[in-house]
Amino acid sequence: RTSGPLRGRRVVVTAGGTHEPIDPVRFIGNRASGRMGYAIAAAARDRGASVTLISGPARVQPPAAVTLVRVETALEMQREVESAIADADLLIMNAAVADFRPAIVAGQKIKKGDDEELTIRLVRNPDILASIAHRRDLVKIGFAAETHDLLTYARDKLERKGLDMIVANEAVASIGSEDIQLILIDAQGIERLPLLPKTEAAELLLDAIVERCAARWSD
Ligand code: C5P
Repeated sequence: RTSGPLRGRRVVVTAGGTHEPIDPVRFIGNRASGRMGYAIAAAARDRGASVTLISGPARVQPPAAVTLVRVETALEMQREVESAIADADLLIMNAAVADFRPAIVAGQKIKKGDDEELTIRLVRNPDILASIAHRRDLVKIGFAAETHDLLTYARDKLERKGLDMIVANEAVASIGSEDIQLILIDAQGIERLPLLPKTEAAELLLDAIVERCAARWSD
């Protein structure tokens, strides 16, 4: 693509969930399908950007003509994001990254034996967005999927993670589904998009992001 508002821009999109291994055959995961992030990557590509799509496990086909980097865990995703953003202009962090991972990954399949209970101790994963807050030149967009107090949590993340915009959505309705209702929140205010198929929601979202990027990049 040689035209479009993101022509010549490097955009990094994360998508899907993460799998945090328990042993060689089991993991802790979530219901993310990859649909939203993949649609975002395609929409950025169609606006002329050169797109790196860093994807955790997903259930849909990745878009063509993007650089696809597959990861499994939050730590792998952090490493790939750090390397991909080195020369990027915009990061759209859509992935549903696990907050915690098993403290110890068993080298062999855990056997049930005679146990009635099994405890898996979890340790916190790094917050990828928060860890790159110092990258002031990078336009950063985060997502907030919540089951309750959506706007309160979303506004808190916007601030705490130093984002240009946070995209809020109802977790139960959105994660793994075909359609989504996005709420775009930035320092100026809030804009509610209608309930749409994720491909169409991604188009409107990219238009809103391009507008903010234009303002940031003209400074
Ligand atoms: O705090 P919470 O996980 O709800 O924040 C969601 C946003 O932060 C998403 O954009 C997600 O991709 C990002 N995130 C992250 N690193 C984590 C967890 C979430 O960058 N460990």
